[in-house]
Amino acid sequence: SPVHAFLKALPKCEQHIHLEGALTPAVLFTLARRNAITLPQDDPAYASPEALLARYQRFTSLDDFLHYYYIGMSALVTAGDFEALAWDYFQHAAADGVQHAEVFFDPQAHTSRGIAYATVLDGFTAARKRAQRELGITTELICCFLRHLPPADCLATFEHEAVQASYVGGQVTGIGLDSSEADFPPTLFEELFFRAGKLGLKSTAHAGEEGPASFIADSLDKLGTQRIDHGRRLTEDKELMARVARDKILLTTCPLSNVVLRGISHVREMPIRAFIDAGVRFSINSDDPAYFGGYILDNYCAVQEAFQLSLKDWDWICRGAIEGSWCAQERKDELL
Ligand code: HPA
Ligand code: ZN
Repeated sequence: SPVHAFLKALPKCEQHIHLEGALTPAVLFTLARRNAITLPQDDPAYASPEALLARYQRFTSLDDFLHYYYIGMSALVTAGDFEALAWDYFQHAAADGVQHAEVFFDPQAHTSRGIAYATVLDGFTAARKRAQRELGITTELICCFLRHLPPADCLATFEHEAVQASYVGGQVTGIGLDSSEADFPPTLFEELFFRAGKLGLKSTAHAGEEGPASFIADSLDKLGTQRIDHGRRLTEDKELMARVARDKILLTTCPLSNVVLRGISHVREMPIRAFIDAGVRFSINSDDPAYFGGYILDNYCAVQEAFQLSLKDWDWICRGAIEGSWCAQERKDELL
């Protein structure tokens, strides 16, 4: 349709995609067999890729999803596995009209099962180079910390020699904070974000997905993040919302993810109109495309179907996403 073609052609930036969330059931089963990883025998969801996909359609919460997400990534072992995963995502992104992608990964979910950080990084780095060369899309890597783990574990990972080398070497642009939100407030991670800031790293945090608006305020005030991932519940604090608009803080929203994980019951409930009317900058993203039934263009289409935005609205959304990116100014100028 013309609408689909229009949305596809927009110069999109994706800033909220967990590479491990691009692992499809089919690839998961192939890798598990190849790497001799045993999938849970006591959960009928692991009977087949089809059964697993069907289970993904019945997520009840963020934690219900995360359970499957962490099991899924246990099939990733070699640098080649990580490269193939990221390359698969970059191909989808390019096909959807993404020009620039800033992608998350969860090193602790791999190092905790004995996979070296260098293995993960080497795989992703190879895929990023190929994406630039063969697809013409630029990318940045954002190293996320798992907030359900003790802050001391996160600090130890942050300080690990190989991880520090990836900041210094420029392979990693910034840090993020993800996993279970409600019971793990941002204030637990002040030291981590303070140290990241001292190194000149950019930072962002998941906030206001299942947690309250005060987690958004604390991420900005106590962690010093430049962006907020999700941020849907910002509308619960109008004063904070005005400040986020004034300071041009980018929210990386994920409409289909929020519906699948039951934060909202329909894309119509996303505060898209409220954000536009208040001048709050936001991007539209896929979060975990293999788990939530859609890549970035599916999210753009769902938003358009729900809100019937104007050309002017879409131009403003895309500009905001470009301006809120962490790439070099020259690259932003090319995209604008
Ligand atoms: N929220 C928190 N943690 C995550 C998510 C999410 O949507 N996806 C992958 N890890
Ligand atoms: Zn996320």
